[in-house]
Amino acid sequence: MKVTIVGAGNVGSSCAEYILIKEIVEEIVLLDIKEGFAEGKALDLTQTMSTLGFSSKVLGVTNDYSKTANSSVVIITSGIPRKPGMTREELIGINAGIVKSVSENLLKYSPNAVIIVVSNPMDTMTYLVNKSFDIPKNQIIGMGGILDSSRFKTYISRLTNYNQHDIDAMVIGGHGDTTMIPLTSLAKYKNELLSDILSKEELLKIASDTMVGGATLTKLLGTSAWYAPGASVSYLVDAIVNDTKEILPCSVYLDGEYDSNDICIGVPAIIGNNGFEGVVNLDLNKKELEMFKNSVKAVKQTNSALNGLI
Ligand code: LAC
Repeated sequence: MKVTIVGAGNVGSSCAEYILIKEIVEEIVLLDIKEGFAEGKALDLTQTMSTLGFSSKVLGVTNDYSKTANSSVVIITSGIPRKPGMTREELIGINAGIVKSVSENLLKYSPNAVIIVVSNPMDTMTYLVNKSFDIPKNQIIGMGGILDSSRFKTYISRLTNYNQHDIDAMVIGGHGDTTMIPLTSLAKYKNELLSDILSKEELLKIASDTMVGGATLTKLLGTSAWYAPGASVSYLVDAIVNDTKEILPCSVYLDGEYDSNDICIGVPAIIGNNGFEGVVNLDLNKKELEMFKNSVKAVKQTNSALNGLI
């Protein structure tokens, strides 16, 4: 199996690194528009083979989409990342055109590939791909919820000292500082609800830290994060390639689910070979349902800026 990653920047090369180390597929193609950049990253990564012990191959190419032919999964990380103080939504003007032309090129050579969209504003970019091409909606997945959930678990663990592996917690809604919904009412430590263990104030603090999790890193790093985004993408690729049917929060096209239509937004989705194979209905409380409605409204507002492109 072959996976293509477009964009050899921080997030794209981190995806490549984790997919390689975990040997999820035999071959990775890393593509970038900057002359020689993907080739350099691929060569550097290949030189970790004997010390890290994997055998998958990675090829770097400059804009040569023919080399991406017959990929099972393609990952779009292209575009610009945010700078400190920026929202993800502010990137739409530059990233929308890039994401559209990248996906067009990818589909020419891998029409049946599952497309993972990472570029921001991610939900809107996922919607753009859905609206621009006549391909099954289950083939297009936006990655944000897995990352936001891993940040949610990090902040729970930091406050409680619980092992992250014993924490079950999910973030749904948009992948934006004000649109994401950390589901504190459903979060669990082992089999216990966190709402029975922690105070309301503690849960609120965890939720608000989670929501600005990406912005906190952007401020610290001067650009947006890459390790956790790359690891989250690799987790999703693993679920697709190995047909795990795991339920993961992903941005997918809704057609009535969660009382929503004509939008891509984070919901728990069953992931397998065909991309997302179903949406799981969660038992949300009144407040969370209201938050979801508001999140839908905000993402649709961002989507309206795509006028002319779709
Ligand atoms: C983040 C970017 C990848 O949240 O959206 O770090």
